[in-house]
Amino acid sequence: MADNENNGNNEEQNQGPWQYIIGGLWRSPLGVFGVILTTISITLMVVGLALDLLGFIENTYANLFTYLVLPGGMLTGLAIIPVAAWLRRRQWNNFGISRDHLHINLSDKRHRKGVIIFTVLTVVNLTVLSLIAYEGYHYTESPAFCGKVCHQVMEPEFVAYSRSAHSKVVCVECHIGSGAEWFVKAKISGLRQVLAVFTDSYSRPIPSPVEHLRPSRDTCEECHWTDKFHGKKVKSIKHFTNEDQTNPTVTDIALHIGGRNPENDAFEGIHWHVSNGIEIKYLAADEKRTQIAKVSIKKADGSTDEFVKADLAIPAERADKWRVMDCTDCHSRPTHIYDMPEDVVDFGLGSKKINGAIPGIREDSFKVLTAEYKSRDEAKKNIGPALLALQSNRNPQLAATHKNDIEKAGAFLVEGYLNNIWPSMKVTWGTYQSHIGHRSEDFGNYKYADTKYGCFRCHDEEHSNKDGKTITQNCGNCHDEPK
Ligand code: HEC
Ligand code: HEC
Ligand code: HEC
Ligand code: HEC
Ligand code: HEC
Repeated sequence: MADNENNGNNEEQNQGPWQYIIGGLWRSPLGVFGVILTTISITLMVVGLALDLLGFIENTYANLFTYLVLPGGMLTGLAIIPVAAWLRRRQWNNFGISRDHLHINLSDKRHRKGVIIFTVLTVVNLTVLSLIAYEGYHYTESPAFCGKVCHQVMEPEFVAYSRSAHSKVVCVECHIGSGAEWFVKAKISGLRQVLAVFTDSYSRPIPSPVEHLRPSRDTCEECHWTDKFHGKKVKSIKHFTNEDQTNPTVTDIALHIGGRNPENDAFEGIHWHVSNGIEIKYLAADEKRTQIAKVSIKKADGSTDEFVKADLAIPAERADKWRVMDCTDCHSRPTHIYDMPEDVVDFGLGSKKINGAIPGIREDSFKVLTAEYKSRDEAKKNIGPALLALQSNRNPQLAATHKNDIEKAGAFLVEGYLNNIWPSMKVTWGTYQSHIGHRSEDFGNYKYADTKYGCFRCHDEEHSNKDGKTITQNCGNCHDEPK
C-alpha cells in the first residue's frame, strides 16, 4: 500500500490530479468492476442490437437481455465509476488534491485529450443508449413481449389472440392506447405484474372482466367508427346432435347490428347502445358484471330513463361502481376467443375431421374433451386412447373397423383441447365467455357457470322503469329471419 502511495505521489507531479483520480480507479476493486461492467454491457448491447436489426435473432429472451438487462448493467457500471473515484477521496487528500486542483484547463494538452476522449465516449454511449431505448420501446410494446416473456401466465390469451380477427393488432392498441398517461399507468402496472410473476402471486385464472381496462372510446374506436352502418348481418348457425351426427340443424338469423342509418339518419339496432349522444350506464351487483341491478340511459336530447331490477340487492362496496357501457360489454371476447366444447365438436363433424358416420362419436368426443386432465401433457397423451376405449366399449368390431378415423378424431380433439384449456392457469371450458349473444342459456349439453351471460343480463323483461316498461326480450328486436 505504502509503495503504491509513494508511486502515486511521484506520478502525481507529472500526471496531475485528474490522471490520478482516473488512474486510481484501477486501484479499487469497485472501480475496476464499474469499468468492466460498462464495457462488457455496451459491447454485448451493440452485438445484440446488430443481430436483432439484421434479423439474425428472433428470440424474445435474447431481446429481453439486449433491451432490458444489458442497459441496466451499463447504467449501473456508469454510475459506479464516479462513486468508486469519490470513495478514494481520502487518498486524494493524502496527496494534497483539493477541490482547487479539480479544474479543467483546455490549454493543457493532456486536459484537452481527456476532454475529447470523454466527449467521444459520451457520444458513443448516448447513441447506443438511444438506439437501445428506441428499439427497446418497440420491443416492450410487441405482442411477443406481452404474450411470450411470461409464457406460463400469458399463453392462454396469446394463443386465443393468435387465431382471431385481431391477431395482427398489437396488444397495446387495446390494452394501453395512445398518450403518456396510459403509457405510464401501463408500465407501473407492468412492474406490478412482473413482481407477481416472481413472487408467484398472480391470479389463476387472470380475472375477467379486466377492471381497469381503458374505455374503448380510446382503443377500439381508434380503428372502428361508431357511426358505421352495418345494417343486417345474416348468420347461419349449425349444430349437430347426438341423434343426427351428419345433418346439422341450421338456424339462419339476420342480426340487426345497425348503426347510423344513411336513409333516415337515425341510430338504430344493436349498435344503438354505443351511438353518438347515447350514454348507457349500469350498476352491477357482482365483479363479473353479470348481475345487473340498474341501467340508466341518457339520450342526445338530454332525456333520461332508468331501468331497475327491484329484487337484486347491491352490496354496499359496489354501490358507486357505475360503469359506462362500451364495446367490450358485448364484445368481451374480440380477440381472446375461447371455444366451447360444442364449437369444437360441431366444427369437427362439419369439417369431417370427426367422422359422423361412426355411431356415438359425438357423445364420446364430448366426454373425452370435457374430462378433467391434470395438465396439457396428460390431455395430449390420454384423449386419443380414451376415445378409442369408449368406442370399443360401444362396439369392439366397429371400433376396429374405424380405428383410423377414431385416431384422426382423437388428434383433432387434442388440438381443440390445447387451443382452449390450461389447467396450470385454471383456464377451462367456459372460464372466459363471450357476452355477444345469449346462447349459453339454452344449451343443454354442458353446464357452464350459472351466472347470466350476454344480452339477457339486461334484456330479461325483469328490469323496469317507473312506467313499468321493461328492457325487451322481443326476439325480433335483435334478429329476424333473413328474407
Ligand atoms: C382487439 C383488442 C385486444 C387486443 C389486440 C388484445 N387484447 Fe387482451 N383483452 C381485450 C379485452 C377487450 C379484454 C377484456 C375482456 C373483459 O374485460 O371481459 C382483454 C383481456 C385480456 C386479459 C385478461 C384475461 C382475459 O382473457 O380476459 C389478458 C391477460 C390480455 N387481454 C392479454 C393480452 C395480450 C398478451 C395481448 C397480445 C398478445 C392482447 N391481450 C391483445 C382486448 C384485446
Ligand atoms: C388497430 C386497429 C384495431 C383496434 C384497436 C381494434 N380493432 Fe377491431 N378490427 C380491426 C380490423 C382491421 C378488423 C378486421 C379484421 C378482418 O376482417 O380480417 C377488425 C374486426 C373487428 C370485429 C369483427 C370481427 C370478426 O370476427 O369479423 C369486431 C367485432 C371488432 N373488430 C371489435 C373490436 C373491439 C371491441 C375492439 C376494442 C376492444 C377493437 N375491435 C379494436 C382493427 C382494430
Ligand atoms: C349491445 C352490444 C354491442 C355493443 C355495445 C357493441 N357491439 Fe359490435 N356487435 C354486436 C353484435 C351482437 C354484433 C354481431 C356479432 C356477430 O356477427 O356474431 C356486432 C358486430 C360488430 C362488428 C362486425 C360487423 C360486421 O359487419 O360483421 C364490429 C366491427 C363491431 N361490432 C364493432 C363494435 C365496436 C367498435 C363497438 C364499440 C364502439 C361495438 N361494436 C359495440 C354487439 C355490440
Ligand atoms: C347493460 C344493459 C344492456 C345490455 C348488456 C344489452 N342491452 Fe340492449 N338495450 C339496453 C337498454 C337499456 C335499451 C333501451 C331499452 C328501451 O329504451 O326500451 C336497449 C335497447 C336495445 C335495442 C333496441 C335499440 C333501438 O333501436 O332502440 C336492441 C336491438 C338491443 N338493445 C340489442 C342488444 C343486444 C343484441 C345485446 C347483446 C349483444 C344487448 N342489447 C345488450 C340495455 C342493454
Ligand atoms: C337483446 C337481443 C336479443 C334478443 C331479445 C334475442 N336474441 Fe337471439 N341472439 C341475439 C344475438 C346477438 C345472437 C347472435 C349470437 C352470435 O353471434 O353468436 C343471437 C342468437 C340466437 C340464436 C342462435 C344461437 C346459437 O348459437 O344457436 C337463436 C336460436 C336465438 N338467438 C333465438 C332467439 C329467440 C327465440 C329469441 C326470442 C325469445 C331471441 N333469440 C331473442 C340477440 C338477441
